[in-house]
Amino acid sequence: MKRFQIWLLTAVILLVFTNAVAQVDGPLDAPINAKERAALFPTQDSIEQGRALAEQTCATCHGLDGISVDRSFPNLAGQRTIYLYREMLNYQQGRRNNLAMREAVAFLDSEALLKTAIYYASLPPPRNGQRQAEAPAIDAAMDDDPMVAVRSSTAGCGSCHGADGNARIPGMPNLTGQAPEFFVHVMKEYRAGDRLHNMMQTLSASLDDDTLANMGLYYALQAPKPTPNAATGDAERGAGLAESCASCHGIDGNTTSNDTPSLAGQDPTYFVQSLKSYDNGRRDHGPMQGAVAELSDEDMKDLAAFYTAQSPEPRVVRKPLTARGWLSRCERCHGLDGNSSDPRYSRLSGQNEEYLAKALQAYVNGERQNSVMHAMAAPLSRGTIQRLAAYYSIQEPASVIYFELPCDER
Ligand code: HEC
Ligand code: HEC
Ligand code: HEC
Ligand code: HEC
Repeated sequence: MKRFQIWLLTAVILLVFTNAVAQVDGPLDAPINAKERAALFPTQDSIEQGRALAEQTCATCHGLDGISVDRSFPNLAGQRTIYLYREMLNYQQGRRNNLAMREAVAFLDSEALLKTAIYYASLPPPRNGQRQAEAPAIDAAMDDDPMVAVRSSTAGCGSCHGADGNARIPGMPNLTGQAPEFFVHVMKEYRAGDRLHNMMQTLSASLDDDTLANMGLYYALQAPKPTPNAATGDAERGAGLAESCASCHGIDGNTTSNDTPSLAGQDPTYFVQSLKSYDNGRRDHGPMQGAVAELSDEDMKDLAAFYTAQSPEPRVVRKPLTARGWLSRCERCHGLDGNSSDPRYSRLSGQNEEYLAKALQAYVNGERQNSVMHAMAAPLSRGTIQRLAAYYSIQEPASVIYFELPCDER
């Protein structure tokens, strides 16, 4: 069976400790148990048995060569043995929901699952030679400013709110100095019609959640500037009234709470209008409605004069990483260029781009449940996901050979 030997020549080498604890099949990062470890050193027989099973049950979708028939399906050729096996258990036990896969593995016992895993892991991984022409562009895109797409989304907002979110026109709110979470919350309220404002409802209608998250980050990253518009009220009297607001909005109108807006340096006309919106029910918010219930028009103007004169502070937010900036984090588990050396973690190199993007998106929205990958994927914008998926899909896949080391007896 020369076929099974050739690809080993380009292999990465990994050392597996033989004193791994024997234990039941558990989560993906659980220690490798004895049965799984044995599968890393398969006999030719078990490869052949796996091949026969794969031919009957898997090949219609994943190919007998492990190259899937559809680009949105994962290639299995040369994928890591224990990863393959544990994912099949995940489908079987309902931790991963894909009807085709659940049906495919429903009647296979764990021996059979392990053998198909052994077979597919033994195959030469796919080469993406035909995509060489695209490689330079895919690589260059890894350094794209992750906020680049936001510029076009915010282009239409600048005429009222200022290009950098620092509004100059009386009556228009500053968008800087706010937490991204507050921005997203408010925009969703406009979009759903829960905060009444016809124009803002129209403007927010076409913005999806991913775009809103990026816009919120964009405005939070801009240096806030106080409004140039003068207030007419009595700032000193306002300072006294503002004491009852300080617990939520901060003593000087700068808060660190993510669901409360900062008020420092806000436009005075907008400030008064927004208080009136809570009073007349255009904005539905219990605590704020309570806070404004007893305020006269004069009080509102005085409060505006106080807050307008405070200097706005920037929010503490991190500039998102470029796609290349993420690579070193993914490397910890998935290996250099997506060539994982730990057989529990999937190899990403040479995988179908469409499948990778779909999988990452599924972790973001919780369709695929894994707490580690949800935490990793949640901060990724759709653009970053696309760049990472394209990048890994064109990396040259490497196989692994595992060596037994004498164990450290204690
Ligand atoms: C009817 C088509 C179909 C058949 C038959 C099928 N699969 Fe799949 N398989 C899929 C699809 C589609 C996915 C991706 C599903 C998802 O996104 O969760 C998948 C995913 C997988 C995964 C997860 C891979 C990864 O990278 O996470 C493994 C492992 C797998 N299949 C193994 C097998 C094996 C082994 C068999 C035969 C016992 C088999 N499949 C039969 C369609 C099929
Ligand atoms: C024609 C002027 C105009 C344009 C264009 C505009 N807005 Fe507004 N925006 C307003 C006004 C007026 C308000 C105050 C509405 C209210 O009282 O609820 C507002 C309110 C907001 C608020 C709430 C601020 C706060 O502190 O509660 C956000 C967030 C916002 N706009 C974001 C945007 C974004 C993002 C865009 C571009 C997609 C945009 N706006 C385009 C006029 C505009
Ligand atoms: C219990 C906490 C709390 C108190 C007390 C409170 N606020 Fe608020 N305030 C909020 C929250 C939360 C919001 C955002 C509500 C929303 O989603 O519309 C808000 C919104 C506002 C806004 C609208 C800002 C904008 O950018 O849209 C203004 C203005 C405001 N508060 C002023 C005041 C003043 C003045 C007082 C004191 C008289 C006060 N608040 C007391 C929590 C509070
Ligand atoms: C701490 C370890 C860890 C880190 C760091 C990590 N991953 Fe993962 N990754 C996993 C595990 C575990 C799984 C399998 C989870 C499951 O069963 O769905 C996985 C699955 C995936 C999958 C699905 C693979 C397949 O074949 O279906 C993709 C794609 C992926 N990770 C991409 C990434 C990217 C991109 C990064 C960096 C932004 C990253 N991962 C960082 C542990 C990690």
